[in-house]
Amino acid sequence: MIGLLTLTSIPTVTGVAFGVSEQRKSNQRKEDARRMVKFHIDAVCDGDTDDDRDVNGRRVVVRNDKVYLDDPDPRKRSVPSFTSLAFYIEYPELEETKHLDRGLGLPTYVSANPPLLNWIYADVDTHELKYGNRTQSVEHVVGPWNWTEDEKVIMLEESISFYAVEEGEGEWALYFDRDGDELSSVLEEQSMLDNAFVPVNLVRRIAEEPPAPTQQQKPPPQQQQQSQGQSSGSDRQNG
Ligand SMILES: *[C@@H]1O[C@H](CO)[C@@H](O)[C@H](O)[C@H]1NC(C)=O
Ligand SMILES: *[C@@H]1O[C@H](CO)[C@@H](O)[C@H](O)[C@H]1NC(C)=O
Repeated sequence: MIGLLTLTSIPTVTGVAFGVSEQRKSNQRKEDARRMVKFHIDAVCDGDTDDDRDVNGRRVVVRNDKVYLDDPDPRKRSVPSFTSLAFYIEYPELEETKHLDRGLGLPTYVSANPPLLNWIYADVDTHELKYGNRTQSVEHVVGPWNWTEDEKVIMLEESISFYAVEEGEGEWALYFDRDGDELSSVLEEQSMLDNAFVPVNLVRRIAEEPPAPTQQQKPPPQQQQQSQGQSSGSDRQNG
């Protein structure tokens, strides 16, 4: 597991080199901050089969090292799972994988207390989406993750092609269509061609974050009194 400390101490490579203009550094910091906005991920399927309708609107969750789609309401899930809360940050390559330069990774919280982060990746053999620490993920497809131009839809290796595969009754796991063949080769290898599967778009839903203390703005005392007076006035209207 990567701890918070490890993650925030990962240097972003671009923009901080000596000689880069202040303007560029400042732009890079803004871009990093935008990429680090936390979001949930929802499946959107616009097909009109029962399976499409079943999967549409489900939320990305994590459990047992794999990434699934389940009810947005944790109480309605048949198997307890943690709701993914993800963002983008440079994947910390090892010395021996630096040349791959896979760009942005997609870390997600996998537990809230203690807060633990893991990398979401596509298994290089089966194309299942999974999560793990750097050791577990580095040999797999860890990036580049990106978003579409409108910043709404999640991309991996410049593709938005993901599939939900029904691995058990009502249990939809996520896969990446890395070969662009609608998963036919990986599903055949796993003898899963008879399983239901539907294409999904993975859509970012910006998550509410508690405001940092410095950002909290209290209305000036006078204004507060006024609005209290107004509301008690309207309360009395019917009396
Ligand atoms: C990565 O996760 C595996 C499995 O949970 C664990 O055995 C290993 O110690 C972890 N590695 C690091 C560097 O935390
Ligand atoms: C990420 O996607 C945007 C379009 O949404 C594109 O302009 C940009 O070049 C991509 N970045 C990388 C590193 O692929």
